[in-house]
Amino acid sequence: MLKNKGNYFILSADGSTLLLKAEGERAELVYFGEKLSSLAGADLLAAAGEPGLGLFSQWGKTDFREPSLLIRHADGSASSDFRLRSARIARRVLPEGLPASYGEDRCVRLEFFDPAARLALILQYAAYAEGFSVSAYLENNSAETVTIERFASLQLELFGTDFSFTTFDGAWGSERQRHTRPLVLGKCENASYAGSSSHFHNPLTLLSRTGETYCVNLVYSGNHRTAAEADCSGRTRLIAGINPFSFSWKLSPGEKFFAPEGIVTFGAGEADACRNMRNLIAEHIVPKAWKMRERPVLVNHWEGTYFSFTREKILSIARAAAEVGAELFVLDDGWFGRRDDDTSSLGDWTDYAEKTGGIASLAEEIRGMGLKFGIWMEPEMISPDSELFRAHPEYCMRIPGREPVPMRNQLMLDLTDRKVREFIVGAVSRVIEETGAEYVKWDYNRYMTDCFGPSVRGGEYFHRYILGLYEILSALTEKFPDVLFEGCASGGGRFDPGMLCFMPQIWTSDNTDARERVAIQSGTACGYPQSTMGAHVSASPNEQTGNRNSLETRFHVACGGVLGYELDLSACTPEEREEIRAQIAFYKRYRSVLQFGEYFPLKDPADKWAGYLSVSKDRSAAVAVVAVFEKRTSEAGLRAGFAGLDEKALYRVTVRRGAKEEELGTASGELLVKGKIPLCGIFAETDERENSNPLYTRMYLFERTEVRR
Ligand code: GLA
Repeated sequence: MLKNKGNYFILSADGSTLLLKAEGERAELVYFGEKLSSLAGADLLAAAGEPGLGLFSQWGKTDFREPSLLIRHADGSASSDFRLRSARIARRVLPEGLPASYGEDRCVRLEFFDPAARLALILQYAAYAEGFSVSAYLENNSAETVTIERFASLQLELFGTDFSFTTFDGAWGSERQRHTRPLVLGKCENASYAGSSSHFHNPLTLLSRTGETYCVNLVYSGNHRTAAEADCSGRTRLIAGINPFSFSWKLSPGEKFFAPEGIVTFGAGEADACRNMRNLIAEHIVPKAWKMRERPVLVNHWEGTYFSFTREKILSIARAAAEVGAELFVLDDGWFGRRDDDTSSLGDWTDYAEKTGGIASLAEEIRGMGLKFGIWMEPEMISPDSELFRAHPEYCMRIPGREPVPMRNQLMLDLTDRKVREFIVGAVSRVIEETGAEYVKWDYNRYMTDCFGPSVRGGEYFHRYILGLYEILSALTEKFPDVLFEGCASGGGRFDPGMLCFMPQIWTSDNTDARERVAIQSGTACGYPQSTMGAHVSASPNEQTGNRNSLETRFHVACGGVLGYELDLSACTPEEREEIRAQIAFYKRYRSVLQFGEYFPLKDPADKWAGYLSVSKDRSAAVAVVAVFEKRTSEAGLRAGFAGLDEKALYRVTVRRGAKEEELGTASGELLVKGKIPLCGIFAETDERENSNPLYTRMYLFERTEVRR
């Protein structure tokens, strides 16, 4: 909700208030924190003669911290002097060519003007129930071209320097591992230089101190950078936006440049701020059509066959998938061109008929089994060994006179070229039309090097690539509104709100090991809803780690996201298939709670176990999973509490073992939240006692029987 009272603009979310003051030629942040019911005396928050908390920062005056904005003028100078020229509640101008949050048309619009440069800077603040969005753009009203060298989407200044800075970092197979460090004087940075949001550093960032957490993200899939700087005057400045590394953008007279939208939530603790961010993404980022639409249980053959499959093999896995109650079969890599391994054919999106026996009829046959049909593509890539490369070497991203750098034997297409974008839209459309695919897994298996397009200025390349990608995704999602696109980038290498605007779910990681997934999924769930995280049960021993885990443990962990199975189901024993059938039936019964319920991370302070609890919005039903990491003898201290249950209700508590549900008793929500249920016996529940490194999991169901208000 937005309100204007005198010089103040009050932006209200359900649990927080953001208060802006616009006076004379300045606008500043006066308050951002727990919700205020009254503004009486707000003037007392400003100290006379001291600069307030800036909404952006420019170079050329007396502020020598990192600026959020740097513009080089035609004469080579780089000073700016943006002054407030108007402040009002207005219609939100959506960023051109970039995805953005939806659900609110109005914003607080602050317009600044630099009279010497004749440039306008517009900041737009929108309020949702869950948090806030900021979108900024520059408009060149002068007769000269200027160069934007940095332009952050969002600046958040706060008093105090006692914050911690939390980021979610990793690599292939270990995405979004949580790291927290104190923000001592100086700077902490969370950035990508890989061209995409990357496995290395997810754009999700938390700034926290006792009683306050600010959770920040960007609706962007390219090089991002969030930096927090604590200075000697006792303030902290956080700026988040396009990474200024190798970025410079020429803005000609009359042109506008939009920064990607920034999103920010507040919470009195990390749990609240993260819950608000998850809900903001679920409500205002994920495509409307998929917002509360239950995601299908899929079966993918990738880890079961890799590239070596025949039509018969695919059909036998699909048959097994239909028998166990799955809803979607996904044909992964290897169905096109002459793709028998990863050395060829990317770009040749034509049927490898000798292998598939005809892709259209294969899809039809699978559909005949009662399954939906999905297909894998990696549309942004090109193999040097491909018909596409031979016909159109100019489509490839490379620098004249240099050998391009292959990764996984592949190069990238130059998405800054209109012809290439048209080629991709055409190729993907043909595959969807030919197979009637209801799902597309959109993969992206390398980082960017060789950034060059003949008609693109060097510093614009990274961003123009992402704009090209968004143009393609907009065209395809508009053309095929019913197709479910799942994002993927060697697992979760491009898991960000930008991609989520087009693709409601993303493959979280190529690492399907249950033990490893606990950290990957709980890190991801800090800022992304469960319904966005692809999570599959795969074979044991695990393909990536060699760890063995029971089918039940693998299922328990995969229930933390959108459930799928990724193994050769046709090779499973009848007992295993029976167990999987029961798992899928159970998942369907609790699917809406697991995919769209409120997520609560469960964590042992001593790190001996971790887990999650997903509770329906009305708190009448919940599913929890706890995972104990290590077997120790005489472990009486292993006990779990269940934050997230309604403390005023009574719940029937059940443990699900195999297909059996065993009632433990009825307890008050209060007791279950504050007390601790012993986990003794958990080590005996697995049939994997002989194995090294198993994970010990237990699934609890809570059904509300009574409410005492
Ligand atoms: C990537 C994906 C996998 C699989 C392979 C296919 O690694 O993350 O899930 O699709 O590509 O080559």
